[in-house]
Amino acid sequence: AKVEPLKVMISGAPASGKGTQCELITDKYGLVHVSAGDLLRAEVAVGSENGKRAKEFMQKGQLVPDEIVVLMVKNRLMQPDAIEKGWLLDGYPRSLSQATALQKFNLKADLFILLEVPEEILVERVVGRRLDPVTGKIYHLKYSPPETEEIAARLTQRFDDTEEKVKLRLQTHHNNVEAVLSMYRDITIKVNGNAPKDQVFAQIDVALSKLIEQRAATSGSL
Ligand code: AP5
Repeated sequence: AKVEPLKVMISGAPASGKGTQCELITDKYGLVHVSAGDLLRAEVAVGSENGKRAKEFMQKGQLVPDEIVVLMVKNRLMQPDAIEKGWLLDGYPRSLSQATALQKFNLKADLFILLEVPEEILVERVVGRRLDPVTGKIYHLKYSPPETEEIAARLTQRFDDTEEKVKLRLQTHHNNVEAVLSMYRDITIKVNGNAPKDQVFAQIDVALSKLIEQRAATSGSL
C-alpha cells in the first residue's frame, strides 16, 4: 500500500527558529514548506489589497485577520505539490479559529513540533537576522553568518525585525499559544530550540524518522 505523505506543523515564538528548521527538514524529507508569514510578505511585496491590509497588522505585531490568512493557507496546502509530497506548515494555526478552520477543510497534521527557546534569547536572534533575497536563505550576523562577501552585501532585514516590534509579536504569541496547543496535545513534540541549529534539527529528525517507520509498518510496506 502507498504510504501517505507526511503532514507536519511547526510552531514557536518569533525567532524560535521555525524558518531555519524548515530549510533543514525540507532538504531531508522533501515536504513542501508553507509559511504563513512568507505568504503574507509575498502579498505585501506585490502590493495587493490583502497585502496592504496585512501589512498594517504585521507592523503592529498582531495577527492578520482570518479572512485574509485562512483561505490563503488553505489554498496553498491544496496545491498538487503539497498533496503529493506532503507539507510542512510554519506559523499556522496561530489561533483557535485558524485551527478550527483547518479541521473544517479536513486538513490534518501527523505531528506538531513546538520549538522552545527562552525569551531573552529571542530578541538577539531577531535583531541579528538577515535574509538573502536571491536564495531566500535565513542568516544571523553572529550565529549563522553569510558564506561570502557577495551574499553579505545583498542581505536585507525584515520590516518587523526591531526590538520594539518583536516584543509586540511575543505578546501576541503568548496570548494565543495555549489555545492552539490545546488542540494538538496528542501529536505534539516539544523540542529544545536553544541549541545550535544542527542539534535542534537532530531532535526533529529522530521524531520524523520514527513517524515514517511507524507508518510504513502499519501500511505493510516494511
Ligand atoms: P512570521 O513570519 O511567521 O514571524 P514569526 O512567527 O515572528 O517568526 P519568525 O519568522 O520571526 O522566526 P522563525 O521562528 O522563523 O525564526 P528563524 O528561523 O528566522 O510572522 C510575521 C507576521 O505575520 C506576524 O507577526 C503576523 O502579523 C503575521 N502572521 C504570520 N502568520 C500568521 C497567521 N497564521 N495568522 C495571522 N497573522 C499571521 O530564526 C531567527 C533568527 O535566529 C535567524 O537569524 C536565524 O539565523 C537565527 N537562528 C535560528 N536558529 C538558531 C539557533 N538554533 N541558534 C542560533 N541562532 C539561530
